[in-house]
Amino acid sequence: MAVKITVVSTKGGVGKTTLTANLGGLLADLGQRVLLVDADIQPTLSSYFPLQFRAAGGLSDLITRSAPAEVISRTVFERLDIVVSDDPEGRLQNWLLYTPDGRPRLKHVLLSALDSAYDVILIDTQGAVGPLQDTAVLAADLILSPIPPEILSAREFARGTLEMIDRLRPMARLGAPVAPLRGLIYRQDRTLDARRIAQELRAESFAPSRGAITILNTVVPATVAYREAATQRVPVHRHEPRRAGATPSAARTMLALVDELFPHLEAHRLTECCMGAPLESIGVSVQAREIRS
Ligand SMILES: Nc1ncnc2c1ncn2[C@@H]1O[C@H](COP(=O)(O)OP(=O)(O)O)[C@@H](O)[C@H]1O
Ligand SMILES: [Mg+2]
Repeated sequence: MAVKITVVSTKGGVGKTTLTANLGGLLADLGQRVLLVDADIQPTLSSYFPLQFRAAGGLSDLITRSAPAEVISRTVFERLDIVVSDDPEGRLQNWLLYTPDGRPRLKHVLLSALDSAYDVILIDTQGAVGPLQDTAVLAADLILSPIPPEILSAREFARGTLEMIDRLRPMARLGAPVAPLRGLIYRQDRTLDARRIAQELRAESFAPSRGAITILNTVVPATVAYREAATQRVPVHRHEPRRAGATPSAARTMLALVDELFPHLEAHRLTECCMGAPLESIGVSVQAREIRS
């Protein structure tokens, strides 16, 4: 069964698409069969990596017609497929709103049609509340929320994201309970202010959530590598396998994140074995295979 992770934030520009793409790219290099799903009306994830094959359909067909055969596009990277966003006019939003079983729909379609073909399904969302965001959230086994440690984003997380989750809780009755949420401190700069806010987010008990919300230990720093990798259309761990100085390389950061989210992949063994040594893209998948065998 595929693990389904939905990357969500009620705020735009926090790093959702970058995170989804890079997580998918690394998991594919680690030998996982990965499906990216672009559930944002603005098709940023759809054009993040070059495509080797562009299917005729995309998310609309998947949701409204349950037609998985015609919606899977392939990126140029092995084991990394994508369902592109194909709804510039936002018709899908209305369809979801007025169809009785609309909101739990993506969950059911993924379960019935694509679950056995992939190890991981990563769903990117738009930074705005709406039925498309709802259906993506309800499809998740785990919700991942990048939070830039600056006061406006932190407040919006504490208010908007938690509100969204509370609003969707009744969907459990339709067979789509809301998954646990992991906050990821994202794009942290080296200021004292950022460190303070990160600390506060961790200290915040999120008491009413009774453990359903936790902040991950991994912190993704703000570095230019993430933007450069996006420009070159490659996963960031390939772009920055190593780095001098105190800030960890993008490869190490992303491996640490994968290790926290997917402990069974034992990505930490790669981090350890590769400290100071080159971590080339090919090396990553070769070593992952060696570890498993
Ligand atoms: N770790 C990072 N450090 C610095 N900039 C980043 C990082 N991750 C993403 N960015 C940049 O932040 C901007 C917003 O990212 P994006 O993934 O498009 O956010 P969203 O999908 O939430 O709107 C982009 O310009 C992206 O290149
Ligand atoms: Mg985006």
